[in-house]
Amino acid sequence: MKLRVLTLTASIAAALAMSAGPASAQPAAPKLKVGLMLPYTGTFAALGTAIENGFRLYVAEQGGKLGGREIEVFKVDDESDPSKATDNVNKLIKRDQVDVLVGTVHSGVAMAMAKAAKETGTLLIVPNAGADAVTGPMCAPNIFRSSFSNWQPGYAMGEVVAKKGHKNVVTITWKYAAGDESVKGFKEALEKGGGKVTKELSLPFPNVEFQALLTEIAAAKPDAVYTFFAGGGAVKFVKDYAAAGLKGKIPLYGAGFLTDGTLEAQGADAADLLTTLHYADSLGLPRDNAFRLSYAKAYKLQPDVYAVQGYDAAQMLGIGLAAVKGDATKKDGFADALRKAKIDSPRGPFTLSKAHNPVQDIYLRQVSGKENKSIGVASKALADPGRGCRM
Ligand code: BEZ
Repeated sequence: MKLRVLTLTASIAAALAMSAGPASAQPAAPKLKVGLMLPYTGTFAALGTAIENGFRLYVAEQGGKLGGREIEVFKVDDESDPSKATDNVNKLIKRDQVDVLVGTVHSGVAMAMAKAAKETGTLLIVPNAGADAVTGPMCAPNIFRSSFSNWQPGYAMGEVVAKKGHKNVVTITWKYAAGDESVKGFKEALEKGGGKVTKELSLPFPNVEFQALLTEIAAAKPDAVYTFFAGGGAVKFVKDYAAAGLKGKIPLYGAGFLTDGTLEAQGADAADLLTTLHYADSLGLPRDNAFRLSYAKAYKLQPDVYAVQGYDAAQMLGIGLAAVKGDATKKDGFADALRKAKIDSPRGPFTLSKAHNPVQDIYLRQVSGKENKSIGVASKALADPGRGCRM
């Protein structure tokens, strides 16, 4: 576990300096402490960095302040390790006394964060982890998500695969909440559409020894395969699927994390893959064009879905704080503002469900060169059912 207060990157600091206004007679409000709990090591390290980049970009675009409060960031590397999650989140809540938590990527770690947020009343914005429980049985007035539920992209892909007429589908994923719930959402829609999941294969997170399972898929000869992998694991899976001779023989479909932020490393092995996600590379929306330009300028990189979710976590924090004039202890006013908000995301505008999960379009994307190109909307304004949420 690493903990440190970050200094701003040079480009963002320059943007902040340019937007500084004249000195005021009013005493400055104390800085708002934001605890970023993200993975900076392990298979999801790149995802954590992209979320932080997106978050900082939005803050910089607002002159370094949200709701009139200057932002001070505290960071923890959660290593995507659920066994360390409670200790890690307590460092931010108890030691650093942050006003707001933003995190994380891994569903198992996010559930520990949600439990701590619920118990202490600390505001929490989840900028990736899809754990259905966070906006299901664990839902709370102080917990919000800027990303998705695991059910959402899985369900949308189940509809797509059923419409294609695939009847006999094998699934393969990591055995933990995100993989299990993604497959569950997929299966729900596939079975509604007349298909069947005939085999559910899995391996422990974050293992990448896929060979034995790929041999099983080859022997089963299904009509199609559905998968959830992300980050470094997704890169290896797509490469191994092709190396096993399955690409072009058994169609592979995935939740969009399979090919988001990974195409550079996957190369030709990812060509033409179809995935479903709440973001794509060439949406052509003016809001997205501006975001992509600004992100590329600040980081010399193209953004991905994780960067968008980090950016929108900061937007959501800004909306809530503006409504309570920067007073993060006014949780009712903060939550009311977000429940009414239309969030102007690069992905397209979205609202929050009663359980505080984005109600959003899920795009069908196809890999073309280094891009996940949108080839249509797979599911319009898809709302997670929020099963078990009492709020
Ligand atoms: C999750 O654990 O919820 C997750 C991790 C990476 C990408 C998407 C979801």
